[in-house]
Amino acid sequence: MCGIVGAIAEKNIVPVLIDGLLCLEYRGYDSAGLVISNKGLQRIRTTGRVAELAKKVTEHHTNGFAGIAHTRWATHGEPSERNAHPHISGHESRIAVVHNGIIENHEAMRKRLQAEGYQFESETDTEVIVHLIASNLKKTDSLLKAVSMSIAELQGAYAIAVMEEIHPERIVVARNGAPLLLGLGEDGNYAASDASALLKKTRDMIYLEDGDLAELYKDQYQIYQSKEGNLGQAITRPIHHSDLTSDDIDMGPYDHFMQKEIFEQPSAVANTLEMVFNAQSVSPGLFGSAAESIFEQTNGLLILACGTSYHAGLVARYWLETFAGIPCIVEIASEYRYRDPVADAHTLVVGISQSGETADTLAAMNYAKELGHLHSLSICNVAESALIRQTDLRFLTRAGPEIGVASTKAFTTQLASLLLLTIVLAKMRNRLSVEHEAKMIAALRHLPAALQSTLQIEPEAQEWSQQFSEKRHALFLGRGVHYPIAMEGALKLKEISYVHAEAYASGELKHGPLALVDSEMPVVAIAPNDQLLSKLKSNLQEVRARGGELYVFADADTQIEESDNLHVIRLAEHAGILSPILHTIPLQLLAYHVALVKGTDVDKPRNLAKAVTVE
Ligand code: G6P
Repeated sequence: MCGIVGAIAEKNIVPVLIDGLLCLEYRGYDSAGLVISNKGLQRIRTTGRVAELAKKVTEHHTNGFAGIAHTRWATHGEPSERNAHPHISGHESRIAVVHNGIIENHEAMRKRLQAEGYQFESETDTEVIVHLIASNLKKTDSLLKAVSMSIAELQGAYAIAVMEEIHPERIVVARNGAPLLLGLGEDGNYAASDASALLKKTRDMIYLEDGDLAELYKDQYQIYQSKEGNLGQAITRPIHHSDLTSDDIDMGPYDHFMQKEIFEQPSAVANTLEMVFNAQSVSPGLFGSAAESIFEQTNGLLILACGTSYHAGLVARYWLETFAGIPCIVEIASEYRYRDPVADAHTLVVGISQSGETADTLAAMNYAKELGHLHSLSICNVAESALIRQTDLRFLTRAGPEIGVASTKAFTTQLASLLLLTIVLAKMRNRLSVEHEAKMIAALRHLPAALQSTLQIEPEAQEWSQQFSEKRHALFLGRGVHYPIAMEGALKLKEISYVHAEAYASGELKHGPLALVDSEMPVVAIAPNDQLLSKLKSNLQEVRARGGELYVFADADTQIEESDNLHVIRLAEHAGILSPILHTIPLQLLAYHVALVKGTDVDKPRNLAKAVTVE
């Protein structure tokens, strides 16, 4: 979802902006643009890909020492050149703005600014920001102050970067509710929505906080906290040396990031579980220094998340209730934030998010706090994200950057982390013997190797992909802890191959979806050799009896034989508690290969974004 890059340096920064935008492509976008200061503000915009923008930039011989650039994911107004950022205002001293987020009071602001004589060229909410700054700049001679006054009038979420024609020596940036960081380089200073955009220039980053404003020059920078339009004293924020390298966001020998990320899962899970590999037991301290005392007071869990992260929460509910005997509710964050739930102070709120910047998850976590929940925990893949910073406890999944929009390694590392949480809580509630804990830890140690061997089924999943690519719909079935895995499999297929897929708890088949079953509706079943297998087999018979074609992912010891209209891919023998994690792999591979056959944009599926930083 929208990405921002800003650069001010001693040499031409156009390549930095274009490289940065290319690195942010994974977030999802539908148009792109930049403004460069070179004898005035030069603006170039395009619909479509950053490569198209780069071509235009080359044709125009655009260069300069300062600039701001943007990838836009349309919210207000269609994807078009007119709506693409940067937006420009002013006559004598023109101002340019790029923006990530949503301005909620844009309609009222638009009317007010139109009454002041400003003419709007786009349908975007962003254009009110640039006119507002231009309007405020008439009351002060400082761009920084004008930005500070303007953001006090804006409601909603934003990260912005601003340039002024007559002062090309500086860029002003501000954030509230949308990610933004500064990059401190040897030959200049930079700003971006995430670290990946700047790694070729610097690994020294400052993560801005909500309410922060910063002024960047090529050789210095200054940060302020703005309150109600007043700039306070200059403040300092810590400089983080990023561990990421530009190789981390390189595709290497793979054709797609999603393929790379599927195959990275053994190492991503191994990194995430590193601290337990040499341990005989796990301690609450893994989740933060206050975890033990908070967990002692915890009498239930409320998990809030979106998309794939929500599915991880659903799996965890089965584990937490079965092994730790602790009540667990899992809710879609965008639903929770707008209803009137009954809060229990000692129900621990758990936010699960790959990016840690999903607007609905952040808002839902804040809402839970307002309602009286005392404590919170985040499970997240980005160390400096808003989610990690706002919770009392945290666990960092160490999957490394996930670039493909469809989440893969983030999901399996979330599941591994949630299994650790289950072990810790089960122990604290006296539900886990020393032997049982040792067995669970041994299972976790085996997980990377088990994932590695599960990946071997790729050629078989590839064989099935042709048949799925010819269908318009598919049904995914699972039972128990594998029902959310069926949901995740259906989500993967629809996200990247655009085949409509629905998941059902297979016991629900005869309450509706059975009516859809015919030879045109492939039915995928997740069939581990667990205590629900016999129930699942009966459900599969119901499908066969209606002429449905079954595609079954079974364990080696599941007694299901291939026959006409019944295809089976076998994993290893039943993996017990690890089974849902391992059964995820073939579903990811199936979706990936169906997308390849259909020729869709695997890493950047249409209309979707990686980090959904707006509602
Ligand atoms: C988007 C992504 C999904 C992701 C969801 C939640 O929809 O495309 O892959 O699962 O957001 O994101 P989060 O970063 O909070 O896990």
